Amino acid sequence: MLPRLAYVNGRYVPYRNAMVHCEDRGYQFADAVYEVLGLYRGYPVDLEGHWARLFRSLRAIGIEAPFSAATLSFIAREVVRRNRISTGTLYIQVSRGVAPRNHPFPDPDTPPGIVIVARPGLGPTADVAARGVSLLTQPDLRWKRCDIKSTGLLANVLAKQAAREQGAYEALLVDSEGMVTECSSSNVWIVDEAGAFITRPLGDAILPGVTRQVLAGLIRENGQTVVERPFSLTEALAAREVFVSSTGSFALPVVSIDGRPVGDGKPGPMVADLRARYVRRLESLDGDRWGV
Ligand code: PDD
Repeated sequence: MLPRLAYVNGRYVPYRNAMVHCEDRGYQFADAVYEVLGLYRGYPVDLEGHWARLFRSLRAIGIEAPFSAATLSFIAREVVRRNRISTGTLYIQVSRGVAPRNHPFPDPDTPPGIVIVARPGLGPTADVAARGVSLLTQPDLRWKRCDIKSTGLLANVLAKQAAREQGAYEALLVDSEGMVTECSSSNVWIVDEAGAFITRPLGDAILPGVTRQVLAGLIRENGQTVVERPFSLTEALAAREVFVSSTGSFALPVVSIDGRPVGDGKPGPMVADLRARYVRRLESLDGDRWGV
């Protein structure tokens, strides 16, 4: 289903007319950052974490935030309300604005370009989660600042497409040393023989996933162990369980990598339990929705 309207540079416009200028630097240079956050039964999921990451990404590329978190929440809420969305996603993109094409930053007075789109539907359905998904390994060809949520996603797009062409759900990105970084649009975890949850530490090789952080909290609250350390593809292939995490996929079990089964080739109990606890947390969201 298409959204009804989008927010584009200060205006709420019908979706079909939601356009930006051909010299927007987001379009020409991917000189832009973005966020995707979940909406669950009307509640923005982990709003603070997403806003904090957006402001961090903006700072990292030297775009002065054109709004406060409160103003952003106000506009985002309006987009969600006008689209009558209850469960879905919210996309926010901020570019360095419109200027004649030239690599250096434009005049500092150039207003950043802002686009906000909300759409219904959040993540794969419960039966996909019950069956589990497959991964295809791909070399990690991205730039060296994957911690910035930049719209420069060409390497991610090509990796994901390669996965889809082989019938896999996601691309598992592996660096030149054979170590796993993350997936094309999600973080990745393994569970070892001892039942510890292992995921790559934060750094410039991965996006600091908001879901990753929330899951780490849920795992620890449950008395289980989170180990943040790099792991290899060989380890992933031998792991008891593997799963991916993101705003849309929550914690999603992986049952095969490059056609080789993970564990016994069925979703494992540890990730099923974690996913259930994540969904219960979504269902218990309560209180002030947007803080404005
Ligand atoms: N992707 N790693 C990458 C490369 C991502 O693009 C994403 C999110 C994640 C997970 O982050 P989070 O848990 O905060 O959603 C990890 C979004 C959903 C996207 O680009 O559509």
